[in-house]
Amino acid sequence: MAPSRKFFVGGNWKMNGKKQNLGELIGTLNAAKVPADTEVVCAPPTAYIDFARQKLDPKIAVAAQNCYKVTNGDFTGEISPGMIKDCRATWVVLGHSERRHVFGESNEPIGQKVARALAEGLGVITCIGEKLDEREPGITEKVVFEQTKPVWAIGTGKTATPQQAQEVQEKLRGWLKSNVSEAVAQSTPIIYGGSVTGATCKELAGQPDVDGFLVGGASLKPKFMDIINAKQ
Ligand code: PGA
Repeated sequence: MAPSRKFFVGGNWKMNGKKQNLGELIGTLNAAKVPADTEVVCAPPTAYIDFARQKLDPKIAVAAQNCYKVTNGDFTGEISPGMIKDCRATWVVLGHSERRHVFGESNEPIGQKVARALAEGLGVITCIGEKLDEREPGITEKVVFEQTKPVWAIGTGKTATPQQAQEVQEKLRGWLKSNVSEAVAQSTPIIYGGSVTGATCKELAGQPDVDGFLVGGASLKPKFMDIINAKQ
């Protein structure tokens, strides 16, 4: 991993938890040792962004799991980048596979939301990835490059092998080099998401183009602390 890229571990809590058990998880996170060269970001459900930010130690950043592309208005059910910042969260997850495949979000609106969130100063965890029925016929590259273009990996228990993750992430870095610039390719953290566990994290983290993880299920368990320390 290039020295300009910090190891990044995101915990995506998805639509899980209540104040009581999330409060316990936050207590465990606050007590955990976070390596100085690792960035840890937790994404609570929207209803708990404020709660999580108030309780989490400042060494852990908070992300929203989604947002819309305008400041305010008649958009029932949505939140804006400004609201996220008002709750002192600093990141947003956009384009997650569940947003794409359960809620039908497509590449264009995801790209617009990424642009808006970046313009408002949020860190963005932009998710791209292929489904199993796209990997099997060998169209992974086509799918992920198409998803990357307008903006510039879930829950199955099937983790990619370290070699599969490295292969796709190396190609993505190559795509950034050819389509954006060498500097952007070298400085952009490319993280892997998809059933990462305490057992699989170390070997994945050892791949040169794997700069960290977005962790779903395992981020709600004490084993998440092992994933935070995967590079140690
Ligand atoms: P998972 O979720 O670890 O439960 O597969 C991954 C993700 O949200 O990116």
